[in-house]
Amino acid sequence: MPSTDDRTLTIRRPDDWHLHLRDGNMLRAVLPETARHFARAIIMPNLVPPVVTAQDALDYRNRIVEALPEGMSFTPLMTLYLTEETDPEDVAQAYENGIAAAVKLYPAGATTNSASGVTDFNKVRPVLDKMAEIGMPLCVHGEVTSPAIDIFDREAAFIDTVLKPIRKKNPDLRIVMEHITTQDAVDYVRDQHRNLAATITTHHLIINRNHILAGGIKPHYYCLPVAKREQHRIALVQAAISGDKRFFLGTDSAPHTDPAKLQPCGCAGVFSAPNTMSCLAEVFDAAGALSKLEAFTSLNGPAFYNLPANTETITLEHGDPVTYPSQIHTDDGPVTVFDPGFPLHWRVTD
Ligand code: NCD
Ligand code: ZN
Repeated sequence: MPSTDDRTLTIRRPDDWHLHLRDGNMLRAVLPETARHFARAIIMPNLVPPVVTAQDALDYRNRIVEALPEGMSFTPLMTLYLTEETDPEDVAQAYENGIAAAVKLYPAGATTNSASGVTDFNKVRPVLDKMAEIGMPLCVHGEVTSPAIDIFDREAAFIDTVLKPIRKKNPDLRIVMEHITTQDAVDYVRDQHRNLAATITTHHLIINRNHILAGGIKPHYYCLPVAKREQHRIALVQAAISGDKRFFLGTDSAPHTDPAKLQPCGCAGVFSAPNTMSCLAEVFDAAGALSKLEAFTSLNGPAFYNLPANTETITLEHGDPVTYPSQIHTDDGPVTVFDPGFPLHWRVTD
C-alpha cells in the first residue's frame, strides 16, 4: 500500500514500459533523466539501422549500460524490431537468454524510423506463433498507415483491421497496445480478458489536439499517435486512474533536437523523461486518485511482464511549484522538455 497524506506520497520505484533512449550523444544526455526516477524501462528498438537481432540488442544494451553515469542504477529491458525477415529462433533465444523482453511491431511507415516495419503480416506469422508458444510479449504501434485513413482515425482502424485479426489467429500471443490515445482503444482493452494490455503516455493524459493546433501550431506537442479530442483524453485518464491491471505507464519519451522538430516537416515525439513523475502526480491528484498512481507506474507493468515489482521506493512531496529546465543540452543540440501547461506541485524528493 502506498503511504499517503496530504503532503507526501511514497510509492514503489516506477518503471517506464515504453521509452526511446536513442544512441551516442543523445543517449548519454537523456539516459540520466530517466534513470533518476525509474528503475527499468522497455527500450524501443527504432534506431537507424534498427535493433533487429539478439546480437543487436545485446550490443545496444551494452552501450546503454556504459552510458549510465557512476552511482546511478537502471535496467534496460530490450526489444527487437520485427521485420519481415526476423528469424523466430533468434527471437526465442533472445527471450530465453534474457537479452530481449519483447518484440516491437511497427507497421511500415507508421512513425519515426519505421521504414523496416511490417507490411505483410503473413510473413511474420512464424515469429508470432513462436512468441505465443514461449509467452514473449509483442508491443504494437497501433496505427494503420494507409494514406486513405485520416490520421485521427488510424488507431481505431488498426484495432479493427490489424489487431483483432492478429488476436483471432493467435489468441495465445501476449500483446501490449502501445501509447493508446482513444476511447476506442480503452474500450477494446477493457473488453478483452486475456493477453492484452495497454500503455498510456504522460502527455496523452494531459494534452488533446487543441493543444497542438489551436492558437498556433505547437511542434513540441506533435507525436505519434497524435493526440485526439478531449473526450479521448478523459477516457485515458479514467483508464490510468482506475487501477485496472491492464493499463500502465509507457512514457514514450522520444527526444528529438529542437532543429529536428522546428522545421517545415518536423519529427514526431515528446520528451517527457525529466518531469514525468511530477506531471503524473499532478494528474492523479487532480482526479482525486493519488492512491492509484503506484499501480499505474510501478505495479501493473511488472505484473504483465511477469517481473517482480521494484522493492525500492520514491517519495513525492507536494509544495510550491517545482520547475524543470525548459530544455536539456545534448552534444547533438537542445531538446525541449514537455510543458504540461500548468504548474507542477509534486517534486520527487528521494
Ligand atoms: C517516436 C520516436 O520519435 O521514435 N515518436 C513518437 O512520436 N512517439 C516513435 C513512436 O513511438 O511512435
Ligand atoms: Zn515510442
